Amino acid sequence: MDQQNSGRKRIAVIPGDGIGQEVIPQAVKVIQASGANVALTDFDWGADHYLRDGVTVPTGGFAMLARDFDAILVGAFGDPRVKTNIHAKEILLGMRFKMDLYANVRPVRLLDAALCPLKDVEPKDIDFVVLRENTEGVYTDGGGVFKQGTPDEIAIQEDINTRKGVERIIRYAFEYCRSHSKLDGSPRSNVLMCDKSNAMTHAGGLWQRVFKEVSGEYSQITAQHMYVDALCMQMIRDPRQFDVIVTNNMFGDIITDLAAGLQGGLGMAASGNIHPGKTSMFEPVHGSAPPIAGKNLANPFGAILTAAMMLRHLGSAREADKIEAAVLEAVRLKKTTQDIGGPLGTREAGEWVVEKVRR
Ligand code: NAI
Ligand code: MG
Repeated sequence: MDQQNSGRKRIAVIPGDGIGQEVIPQAVKVIQASGANVALTDFDWGADHYLRDGVTVPTGGFAMLARDFDAILVGAFGDPRVKTNIHAKEILLGMRFKMDLYANVRPVRLLDAALCPLKDVEPKDIDFVVLRENTEGVYTDGGGVFKQGTPDEIAIQEDINTRKGVERIIRYAFEYCRSHSKLDGSPRSNVLMCDKSNAMTHAGGLWQRVFKEVSGEYSQITAQHMYVDALCMQMIRDPRQFDVIVTNNMFGDIITDLAAGLQGGLGMAASGNIHPGKTSMFEPVHGSAPPIAGKNLANPFGAILTAAMMLRHLGSAREADKIEAAVLEAVRLKKTTQDIGGPLGTREAGEWVVEKVRR
């Protein structure tokens, strides 16, 4: 390996469908402007590819990603022409499940008070992270239907919770809490487990027991519990109280849309799908937003903040800091898309950040 290639991280880029094809190119330009030592390779997996030749993931695709890349940057999947959504399921859930990316890390940060629909809330008040179990739960699609289309129809959707799966995400949450600080530099100190163990007793019981056990190993960290319905109410009433939240696949999906609302909407939310030591995948929280796709309206900041998160994961903290600072300034100066109150299009907002990062 020559000097220039040493330490260079290889990133697979999969923009996907709809606004994924608009926001990911902006994120890519920002990565390049940051000077991060990376090599980017594009893949056209998505609805167009599927409709053209019936292939969702090429043979050996996941093994190739795991072998040849250090990280994957993804846009979104979902296209009205593919009614079954089969390509999204095979590509996105395929990556999460088959590459065993068990920790879905979703930071929730308010960059500017103007972005929050709650009154009297400052940026310092909203700085928490949701760690969502990403490989089990109801998303494994276990179950079936019986007597379909008759008045006696039965539909069963199974909620899969394994000891291994529950333990590793809870442990990840405590390790995350121990090793990450808040934006203001203060240490994180509280892990809250969210479930519905009062009603879903079998799965909830496992989560409760494992949480109790694992929290016992971390005496410096406060362990707390909340039912998911109560948590939704508290998130709106007083988001200041949250630090690290750990929960299952479905509750994590739902509460992070709610949390995204606190930080300016889906266009601002970033996420990582992580398995420590393996090739991990990073994607904005939002979907493909078909109604606004192709109109230069989509907010690219969720994708750009996702790129920063990926670079930080790959060890390029300086570049990630630069990108996050540029997005923060764009938000403060209203150099943004319309969804968060600015006058710019997707490309123009992306370009503003590119220029800022380059300087
Ligand atoms: P969505 O996230 O695409 O859109 C929800 C709402 O937020 C829409 O009003 C949309 O216009 C707005 N929005 C989302 N991202 C935005 C951005 N960057 N800038 C400005 N506004 C933004 O979710 P929806 O409508 O439920 O799903 C649309 C398609 O995306 C479906 O096919 C769905 O299956 C798929 N989807 C894919 C995801 C993924 O690939 N990770 C996640 C969620 C949905
Ligand atoms: Mg969701």
